[in-house]
Amino acid sequence: MEKKFEVVVMGLGYIGLPTAALIAGNKIKVKGIDLNEEVVKTINKGKVHIVEPDLDGLVSKVVSEKLMQADTKPCEADVFLIAVPTPFKEDHKPDLSYVESAVEAVTPYLRKGNLLVIESTSPVGTTGKMADLVFQERPELKGDLFIAYCPERVLPGKILYELENNDRVIGGLDESSAQKAVNFYSRFVKGNLHKTNARTAEMCKLVENSYRDVNIAFANELSMICNEVDIDVDELIMLAGKHPRVNILNPGCGVGGHCIAIDPWFLVSEFGEKAKIIKAARDVNNHKADWVFKNIITTAEKFEREMKSKPVIATMGLAYKPDIDDLRESPALYIMKRLKKTDYKILAVEPNIPKYEGKDLVPYIEAEEKADIIVYLVAHREFKKRKIENKIVLDYCGVTK
Ligand SMILES: NC(=O)c1ccc[n+]([C@@H]2O[C@H](COP(=O)([O-])OP(=O)(O)OC[C@H]3O[C@@H](n4cnc5c(N)ncnc54)[C@H](O)[C@@H]3O)[C@@H](O)[C@H]2O)c1
Repeated sequence: MEKKFEVVVMGLGYIGLPTAALIAGNKIKVKGIDLNEEVVKTINKGKVHIVEPDLDGLVSKVVSEKLMQADTKPCEADVFLIAVPTPFKEDHKPDLSYVESAVEAVTPYLRKGNLLVIESTSPVGTTGKMADLVFQERPELKGDLFIAYCPERVLPGKILYELENNDRVIGGLDESSAQKAVNFYSRFVKGNLHKTNARTAEMCKLVENSYRDVNIAFANELSMICNEVDIDVDELIMLAGKHPRVNILNPGCGVGGHCIAIDPWFLVSEFGEKAKIIKAARDVNNHKADWVFKNIITTAEKFEREMKSKPVIATMGLAYKPDIDDLRESPALYIMKRLKKTDYKILAVEPNIPKYEGKDLVPYIEAEEKADIIVYLVAHREFKKRKIENKIVLDYCGVTK
């Protein structure tokens, strides 16, 4: 008889697919589940639907060796991992509906002794709530299921390496669940596995991303203050960094992506007034994009007054950070869209994407030639060391330094 699946991974996106492939690469049979039939078909052909270095080779290998298979419906297994999205709603409150429906989908397949792990970034208390959901339907499993929370902290572009090598925080609903999860992850993770309770692990993930957000906000705030007093913020940060205990991050045109721009809101929405700095950081980082927009407009208006013609503006970069194609929550995209609503001609450049909303994006060399004002929003490698002469250059990401 063919060996059954040991692991079910719910959600085959940026996190779930590399995780499933890595586990299968360690000779553990995995069934990956996604609601999207196209995703399932693509993976079963040994192909991938997301851009991530080396993922295509690994998926093709584990699918051809029958160590991984994709499907739209779960099946029985020993371990169930939940890696579905956790966005926020209009009011910035976390939307747990994806996690709930993934847990509901696996509940009929759970058996005594199984391990259920939530990997999706979640507000504090989510793992306990998901356990309640399971036991409402399957009260006979109480005391016989192991349930844990184990967040992801990988960097897009280095996901496969980091999945295997980063340390992980593993929080059980009880000690035996934490231990069971540690035993499982130790089969394919080389980083250290730190055992704790589920609530601390949930909080840990939110704190990591809030920490990054607060530190970026400090740099962004400095950049706006320095602009008032005509001080080069990049030089300032370099000099302040000569102090042995000061390490300031680089400012940008805001903060994007679907982690740092979102997860701090989970703390703000739950802890309100107590999360003052975290909320202020979100506000500063969002405000930075509006400030950049206004700054560009001020420069364009000055050009128009002096040259008696409207400038052509090139916006360099749309992604939320350098050298990737991900536009989620991108401040550069937001700024470009606001500029498009003005009556200036805008040349949108993003070397990592051919088209946006069906329209061709402008190659960066063409944009450099045609624009009067060149606005660097993202420090993509293509924009480094360019010789731009007789143009106005606005650099909001330090790429020209
Ligand atoms: N992408 C990252 O860099 C990153 C890093 C750390 C943590 N996270 C967290 O990991 C989680 C997953 O993020 P992602 O980037 O992989 O999301 P994603 O949008 O790339 O992928 C999620 C996948 O889940 C599928 N899905 C949705 N509901 C489902 C269900 N009920 N059953 C089965 N499949 C379902 C979707 O079709 C999609 O393919 C989120 O909580 C995110 O915050 C992401």
